[in-house]
Amino acid sequence: MCGIVGYVGFRAAADILLDGLEQLEYRGYDSAGIAVKCEDEIKVYKAVGKLKNLREELKLHIKEFQNSTMGIGHTRWATHGAPTVLNAHPHTCNCGSLALIHNGIIENYKELKTQLEKEGCIFRSQTDTEVAAHFIAKKYAQTHDLTEAVRLASKEFEGAYALCVMHNDYKNTIVATKRNAPMVVGEGEGEYFIASDVPAIIKYTKKAMYLSDNQVATITPNSIKLINADGSDAVQKFELLPWEPVALSKMGYKHFMLKEIHEQPDVIRNNLTGKLKTASDPVVLDEVKLTKENLKDLNRIQIIACGTSLHAAMVGKYLIETFCGIAVDVEASSEYIYRKTVTDKHTLVIGVSQSGETADTLTAIKQAKAKGSHILIITNRPDSAMAREADSLVAVNAGIEVSVAATKSYTAQLMAFYLLAIYMAEVKGTTDTSILQSLKNELMLLPQKVEQVLANTDEIQKCARNYSGTKDFIYVARGINLPTALEGALKLKEISYINATGYAAGELKHGPIAMLDETMPVLSILMKGTVYDKLLSNSEEARARNARMIALTNSNDPKLEELFDCIIRVPDVQEFLSPIIAVIPLQLIAYYIAEFLGKDVDQPRNLAKSVTVE
Ligand code: F6R
Repeated sequence: MCGIVGYVGFRAAADILLDGLEQLEYRGYDSAGIAVKCEDEIKVYKAVGKLKNLREELKLHIKEFQNSTMGIGHTRWATHGAPTVLNAHPHTCNCGSLALIHNGIIENYKELKTQLEKEGCIFRSQTDTEVAAHFIAKKYAQTHDLTEAVRLASKEFEGAYALCVMHNDYKNTIVATKRNAPMVVGEGEGEYFIASDVPAIIKYTKKAMYLSDNQVATITPNSIKLINADGSDAVQKFELLPWEPVALSKMGYKHFMLKEIHEQPDVIRNNLTGKLKTASDPVVLDEVKLTKENLKDLNRIQIIACGTSLHAAMVGKYLIETFCGIAVDVEASSEYIYRKTVTDKHTLVIGVSQSGETADTLTAIKQAKAKGSHILIITNRPDSAMAREADSLVAVNAGIEVSVAATKSYTAQLMAFYLLAIYMAEVKGTTDTSILQSLKNELMLLPQKVEQVLANTDEIQKCARNYSGTKDFIYVARGINLPTALEGALKLKEISYINATGYAAGELKHGPIAMLDETMPVLSILMKGTVYDKLLSNSEEARARNARMIALTNSNDPKLEELFDCIIRVPDVQEFLSPIIAVIPLQLIAYYIAEFLGKDVDQPRNLAKSVTVE
C-alpha cells in the first residue's frame, strides 16, 4: 500500500526520499511524489506510475532542489480517486505553503470537505488527503504553530492515518503523527528519517522509534520532540532494529519471490530453534501466555486472517482439531467484522498476518479483544500494530518478505501452527505421545526435504512451460491439503493473472466438472494418506472428461503414469506435514509461469504487500 518517507538533515533530501521510496516499492503503488524545502518555498514533484517516471520528472528540475536537505516523499496506492498526478501526494494547502503526505483513510473527509469548501478552500483532487492538508493549514492559521496545528487537526480526523507535514515558515522541521497506521522515526548523527516501514531507513540507521497512536513528533536535524494527543510530553523509546539491509537484496536471484522460496529451509530451521530440541522433549512455546489451566478449559478457537494467511489458518484448524480436540472456526477477517460473532473470554482468538498491519484482521482482533477473548497473534512482524494488540505473540521469523506474493511467510505460519498444535496437545494430553513424537521427528527432517524439492525443479519448470498458455487452471485436493490447493491457485492468479481456482476434489462433480474439457489443466495434490484413494478416483473422473492432468505426489503408484500427463514428485512425508512439502512446487509453478509470461513477478498489478485499508 502507500509508502511514506521523510528526511531532515544535511544530505540531498531528494536522493534519500527516492531511495527510501524505492525500498517501499514492494508494497505496491500507482503514483509517487516528493515535496522538498527549497530556498524560500516548498517545491512539489509528482508522477503517475513507477518511480522511474518520478525520477524523469525530477531530472527536469534538478537545479531547483539540489541543495535541499529536507523533504517528504510518498508512493500512493489509489483508494479515493484514480491514480493521477492531481491525486498523487504530496498535497498542499491553497497557498502552497503547507505540504502533506498521508497513508490510510480519513473517514470523515466528506464532512470536513463540505465545511472547508464553505470557508473558501478550493479542492484540486478527489482525495481525502487534500482535506487533511487544508484542515491542518486552517489550524495553522489559528495557532501559528505547526505542531499544535497537526495535534488539533488530528483530534478531529476519524479513521486510520499516518501523516507527515512541512510548512514554508519552518526551515528544517517535519511534523509527523499517526493513528492505526505504522510510522517509524530513525535517528542518525544530525539527521532524522521518517518512514511507514523499516526498509526505507535501515540502510541509514538502525536506531529507531515506532510512534504510538495519536503521538505528534516534531523533528529537526538535531532534535525530536514527542507529545501526546493532550499536548503532554511523551516518552521517547529509541531501540536498535533487528533488521539487516542485506535482507532487502535479491542476492543474485532474478526476483525476490524466487529468493524467498529458496529461503524456506532456513525459515523452517529458524522456527524450530529453541522450540523443538528432540522428539522426546515437549515443545517449548513460552510465547503462549495462557495458563495450562486456561488451555485445558478452552473449548473453542476462532482463527481470523486474509489471503495466504487464511490458508495457513485452515491448515491450523485441521491440526488443532485433530491433535487437541478443540472446535476451531476459520474466517476471513473481512467477513468476521461485519456480523455478530459469538466470542467471549472462553474463546481463544488467533489472528494470522504476515505484515501484522492488514486492516481487516486488525479490526477483527480488536473486536474480539473488546469482548474479552485472549488474543494470540501469529505474525512475521513483531513490531506491527497487531503484535501490539496481542496477549500472546508468536513471531514466525521468516525475515522480511519483499515479494508481494507470500511464500516463506506461509511456510513460517504453518510451522507456527504445527508447534502450537503439538504444544496444546501436550498440555491437554489429547494425543498419543507416539503420534506426537513421530510428528516432531519428521518436523526436524523437513528442511532437508524442502531442500530436495528446491534442488530438483526440472519437471516443475517443464510443467510451467507446458501450461503457461492456459487461460484457466484448476487445483484439487482433499483433507489437510485443500488449503494447499487454494494457496497454489492464489499464487498463480496473483502473479500470472491466469484464472486459477482451488476446489475440494469431492466438490468437482457438484458443478465445476462441467468446465472440464481437453483445454483445462487439473492439478491433483495426491499426497499419501487418508484421502489418497478418494482423490485418485476424483482425478479419474476428471481424466474421463479429457482434462489435462497433472499430479503432485509423493507416491510411486504405477497407476499414476496412465492417469496423468505430467507428474511432479516430492519426497515422502507423513500426511500431516505434506502441506509444507506440497506447497513448494506450487509456488514454483506460479513463479515460472509468471516469469515465462514476462509478468512483474514481485509487484503484480493492483496488489499491495500490506493492505492497510478495509
Ligand atoms: C498472497 C498475499 C495476500 C496476503 C493477504 C494478507 O500472496 O500475500 O493474500 O496473504 O493480503 O496479508 P497479511 O498476511 O499481511 O495479513
